[in-house]
Amino acid sequence: MATHSLADAFLEELQDVLSAETQLVKALPQMVEKASDHALKQVFESHLYETQTHVERLEEVFESIGQPPKAKKCEAMAGLIREAGGIMRLDAEQEVMDALLIAAAQKIEHYEIATYGTLCTWAELLNFVDGLQLLKQNMEDEEAADDKLTQIALTVNQAAKMGR
Ligand SMILES: [Fe+2]
Ligand SMILES: [Fe+2]
Repeated sequence: MATHSLADAFLEELQDVLSAETQLVKALPQMVEKASDHALKQVFESHLYETQTHVERLEEVFESIGQPPKAKKCEAMAGLIREAGGIMRLDAEQEVMDALLIAAAQKIEHYEIATYGTLCTWAELLNFVDGLQLLKQNMEDEEAADDKLTQIALTVNQAAKMGR
């Protein structure tokens, strides 16, 4: 596909984020499993369901611009997930593992927020009114998840610091 216009660039990014969200749907269950802190487990679990919704909303965005939903492998998300995988294989105390999981998850959320920030700006410029609404909803979920992680980190980091 030739990328000549901002609309082409939008489609390119949309294919990238569809891949990113799809990869995350597959990766989050392991993070749910690995987390020990109850609140952290819950955030990962509810974000898993939200992430499934994100995929559905993205499919609607494709539809709203008359394009078939198609994913183009997001290498950045693949890297972030690989890194999280490496963290999960570390031999760490529960509390320290939770702190590391939050760090990995916040990198992922910030990456998503950056992507949705760009997509929302472009959707607005291109007058993709329906798409913009859907993308904004995804972005708000990412921001809320990031805030919850920051909140949980307050107690988790303290527990990790106490250590053994
Ligand atoms: Fe998402
Ligand atoms: Fe997310």
